[in-house]
Amino acid sequence: MRWDPAQYAMFSDERSRPFFDLTGQIHAEQPAEVVDLGCGAGELTAALARRWPSATVRGLDASPEMIERAGEFAGGRLSFGLADAADFDASGVDVLISNALLQWVPEHQALLRRWAGELNAGGWLAFQAPANFGSPSHRLMRELAGSDRWRGRLAGVLRHDVVAEPAEYLELLAEAGLRVNAWQTSYLHVLSGPDPVLDWVRGTGLRPVLQALGDGEAAEFEGEYAALLRQAYPAQPFGTVFPFLRTFVVAHKPAAERKA
Ligand SMILES: C[S@@+](CC[C@H](N)C(=O)[O-])C[C@H]1O[C@@H](n2cnc3c(N)ncnc32)[C@H](O)[C@@H]1O
Repeated sequence: MRWDPAQYAMFSDERSRPFFDLTGQIHAEQPAEVVDLGCGAGELTAALARRWPSATVRGLDASPEMIERAGEFAGGRLSFGLADAADFDASGVDVLISNALLQWVPEHQALLRRWAGELNAGGWLAFQAPANFGSPSHRLMRELAGSDRWRGRLAGVLRHDVVAEPAEYLELLAEAGLRVNAWQTSYLHVLSGPDPVLDWVRGTGLRPVLQALGDGEAAEFEGEYAALLRQAYPAQPFGTVFPFLRTFVVAHKPAAERKA
C-alpha cells in the first residue's frame, strides 16, 4: 500500500500522544539496540534516540515514501531502512516498539510470539494498535464499501478483524514468558476544519479504498462517505469530537539468570 507522509502528518499531535503513552511504560534504562518497526516518517523514532542517548536506534518501514521522509532525521546512532515486519528478526534487540503498525499485519500474533523468543533477555516489546474497528468511522466505511454501488469494486479491500482483544495479547506474551502490561485508552480528539474525520482516515484507514479506486471514483466514494461522517461526527462550535479507542501492550522479558 502507498502511504502519503504529508496526509498522515496532518494530525501529528493527536497521533503522537499514544506513542508517548506507550513508550512511557517501557522502563529500560540503557538499552543498546532499539528498533521502531513501522516507524513511518521517523519523527517519533528520533524521540527514542533522544530518550536513550547511548542506544543504536533503527527505524524500519515497508513504505519507500515514509523511509525517504525519515532520512532527514538519520545520523549518528539513528538510522532508517526499508523492511517488511513479517521478515523482521528481533535477535539482539533490547527494545522493540511498533506504534500503529500491527493493524496492517494480519499474521502479527505469530510474529509477536517469534519476536518474544528472539528478543534479548531483559528486553522490552511494546506495541499500540487502534481498537476502533467498530466505531462509526470504520463501520460506515465498510457499509458504504459493501453497498450495491461499491461492492463490485471494493470486495475484500477492507479488513476489520486483524487486531485482537488486549487479553489475547496478554495471554500470548505471558505464555511466551514475558511480564505483560496491557490496557486500552479512549482518546476524545477535538478536530477542526470542515471534514476533519475524513481527513484523518485519508491518512490511514481509507488508503486501501483510495488506492483500489481511480481518482474519479475515489472522489465519488469520499463525497458519499463524508456526508455520512458529518452526521456521525457533527461539527460543534468548539470542533468535531472524534473518539478513538486504542490497545497498548508493553511486555518485559526476564533478565537471564546469573550462574552461581
Ligand atoms: C499508521 S503508520 C504509523 C507510523 C509511526 N509508527 C507512527 O506512529 O507515526 C503505519 C506504518 O506502518 C507501515 N507498515 C505497514 N505495513 C507494514 C509492514 N508489513 N512492514 C513494515 N511497515 C509496515 C506503513 O508504511 C506506515 O508507515
